[in-house]
Amino acid sequence: MEKIYRDNDVDASILKGKTIAVIGYGIQGKAQAANTRDSGFKVIVGSRGAEEGSKSREQAKADGFESYSIAEATKKADILLIELADPVQPGIYKKDIGPNLRAGQTICFCHGFSVLYGQIQPPKDVNTVLFVPNAPGAFVREKYKKGEGVYGCVAVDQDATGEAEKIALAISKAVGSTRAGVVLMSFQHETEGDNFEEQILYGGAIALMKACFNTMVENGYPASFAYAKAIRSLRSVIDVMDEVGIEEYCTSRCSRTAEFAIRTRGPRVVNIDEVKKIFEETERGEFARDWMQEWALGMPTLHRMRRTAANSAMEKTGQSWRKEFGK
Ligand SMILES: NC(=O)c1ccc[n+]([C@@H]2O[C@H](COP(=O)([O-])OP(=O)(O)OC[C@H]3O[C@@H](n4cnc5c(N)ncnc54)[C@H](OP(=O)(O)O)[C@@H]3O)[C@@H](O)[C@H]2O)c1
Repeated sequence: MEKIYRDNDVDASILKGKTIAVIGYGIQGKAQAANTRDSGFKVIVGSRGAEEGSKSREQAKADGFESYSIAEATKKADILLIELADPVQPGIYKKDIGPNLRAGQTICFCHGFSVLYGQIQPPKDVNTVLFVPNAPGAFVREKYKKGEGVYGCVAVDQDATGEAEKIALAISKAVGSTRAGVVLMSFQHETEGDNFEEQILYGGAIALMKACFNTMVENGYPASFAYAKAIRSLRSVIDVMDEVGIEEYCTSRCSRTAEFAIRTRGPRVVNIDEVKKIFEETERGEFARDWMQEWALGMPTLHRMRRTAANSAMEKTGQSWRKEFGK
């Protein structure tokens, strides 16, 4: 049985008197900085400034945080929450974070990619942990303000001080996740699980929506009808399934025709051999290798694919659909 850590299981007092530097003030950084401060801990922010063409440092100051360059914040911190966009982390670590680390600090990531694939290798005398709330930053903040939290996970890759797990769990509590529940896992599972989900669930769902739209249009259906079927109808269905579960949805919340369609034809559209192959490729690090290569080359494949996708019939239908029929 996996252990679920809730508020009562975690003592966050280990963070008292510590300086927690949120490095990167974007989607997650803003939410985690605000929640941690509201939980009563000392939070500073390290981010890019106007000299680097960014408004982040000013924004953090305007939001009431002591706001520094990334190098300065690293020096001042006891605990660093790395909330930088993943592909830029290795470069910033090399230049501003790594040279300013000292023994006994804790470096807490919000995704394990940079560490799992060896792009960042913190020194042996620094705790290396991870805390990830399973939601976008705005939702993490919204839930916290309501007295709630979002499910999250914590992992320890390197325990230099003997307190790495306690610190990571305390951070998860400060951000509000132990209100919902937090589990312990590994950097490997967090990273590969995230990358696997992105490939098969986001990638697969979008490919299915496109297949639904294109097949209907190719067979003479009005584009607006095909678009409504391919995208809009999924929206409410996902919310209901999340609320009541897949079985309740299938047996009681949709029509019997839909239930028959779901149970008898749905599995035919999933190529389970491909799903397993993608899982294995992810485990072998092939997805990470391909993505790092793509990023290093300036994302040529993505630029090319975006151009084609932006000009597709489905995208153009979507633009007029939202104007005609509402968001
Ligand atoms: N998005 C989510 O909801 C979510 C959910 C779970 C986990 N995570 C993880 O949380 C971490 C942060 O993700 P995010 O989505 O919050 O990232 P983000 O908003 O896209 O970016 C975070 C920060 O990265 C900084 N940045 C980008 N390029 C930079 C550069 N060249 N030099 C210095 N700073 C740079 C940006 O600084 P400026 O403001 O100066 O541009 C920005 O504030 C990642 O590890 C991600 O995997 C995110």
